[in-house]
Amino acid sequence: MDRYIDLINQTYEFPTVEFKVTKNELSFNDVPLMKIIKKYGTPLRITYLPKISQQIQRARRLFRNAIKKFDYNGDYTYCYCTKSSHFSYILEEALDNNVHLETSSEYDIEIIKALHEKKKLDEDIYILCNGFKKQGYTNQILALHKKGFQNIIPILDNLKEIEAYENQVEGVMQLGIRLAADEEPNFPFYTSRLGIRPSAVIQHYKDKIQGNPKFKLKLLHFFINTGIKDTSYYWDEFSEFLHLYCELKKICPDLDTMDIGGGFPIKNSLNYDYDYKYLSEQIIQNIQNICKQYGVPEPNIFTEFGTFTVGESGAIIYSIVDVKLQNDKELWYMIDSSFITTLPDVWGMDQKYILLPVNNWDKEYSRVNVGGITCDSMDYYSSEANGAKIYLPKITKDETLYIGFFHTGAYQESVGGYGGVQHCLVPAPKHVIVDLDDNDNIVTKLFAPEQDSKSMLKVLGYL
Ligand SMILES: Cc1ncc(COP(=O)(O)O)c(C=O)c1O
Repeated sequence: MDRYIDLINQTYEFPTVEFKVTKNELSFNDVPLMKIIKKYGTPLRITYLPKISQQIQRARRLFRNAIKKFDYNGDYTYCYCTKSSHFSYILEEALDNNVHLETSSEYDIEIIKALHEKKKLDEDIYILCNGFKKQGYTNQILALHKKGFQNIIPILDNLKEIEAYENQVEGVMQLGIRLAADEEPNFPFYTSRLGIRPSAVIQHYKDKIQGNPKFKLKLLHFFINTGIKDTSYYWDEFSEFLHLYCELKKICPDLDTMDIGGGFPIKNSLNYDYDYKYLSEQIIQNIQNICKQYGVPEPNIFTEFGTFTVGESGAIIYSIVDVKLQNDKELWYMIDSSFITTLPDVWGMDQKYILLPVNNWDKEYSRVNVGGITCDSMDYYSSEANGAKIYLPKITKDETLYIGFFHTGAYQESVGGYGGVQHCLVPAPKHVIVDLDDNDNIVTKLFAPEQDSKSMLKVLGYL
């Protein structure tokens, strides 16, 4: 018999640090998932909180080691990009590690205020404010600055933005400028709409910031959509950014920081292979080399990792509620929820995640497609990250099959919406936080029950 467990053992180096199988049941970070399913049922969103601290410490280690290796003369600062998951327990866990924050909108600032009131952060935290800013956002930034947050740094996204601060700022405000990078060659646009075009950056500094006692230009910001990748596209863009930094540094003594954005990836397959050490060393070395050429001091480095911070903490578990053979070959496993509503990136950008069964690892396997319960024909998942087909254990009459999608912790709730109305009125699943107590025992807490119909009817105006 071809057992599922043998297939995985032959295809991947399995078990991994994160995934293990005991008595044909899967554990994720040593959390026995069947136990959680028995307690809470499915569909079920899980957050394994300790992963967040582990990731923050891991990035710090990587950059500190690279800094040491090359005798680099700047510091590294970890900022968490709040838009990747705004949940209070995520921010609180991140802040327990003394991270700084990156925001993208007006309401983010309300989150900062709430955290400040709860004494989860203090006023000297760096708050990097990105995004296109309407007046509500710039007013919030000014108000926080006035309140004593001297390290709130609006990162100018366009030439007009500075006008919002010019007449209203009290004391001195630090600023950043986002450089508009070129898009990937296959993108429909040549240059990103985000940020200020490179040819205008230096002139903007001269016109509006240089000699103005209200402002100090502290950092130059760079982020490209594809994230940090070892491709000629990434290094070309990075190099343009470095040259501009050095040109600017020659005339702007306050400039001392390079914000290289987010973009560290996470594992989306069991054989995912990304060389974090190499990439962080390359970043440090590249900066060092170009600064040497220009004879300017090496800058401090900020990152704004979102996906890297929270992605691997998340999982979502479904039951297979039906099996449909729609022709001689195409077998569908139907889940008890929807990809469109719970994992919108699967539907919207063909995102791949690690997909594994939670139980029945000793059963024979079949090639399947996995279908969501909305009426939308695009509500499905049918291939792995490398394009390979999906195999899962065969269904038996006496036992429900449970499957998990792993490393789903970033962006899914903010993109798909949370607690509102979604496609076919599929409710938001239960949401459980898994943590370790002081003795490293696993503890679970229900963050939210499955969404009820009343909350939707209220949004829709029926109640
Ligand atoms: C300005 C900025 N910084 C950081 C991030 C976080 O990126 P990631 O989640 O890839 O780390 C984003 C994501 O869109 C971004 O736009």
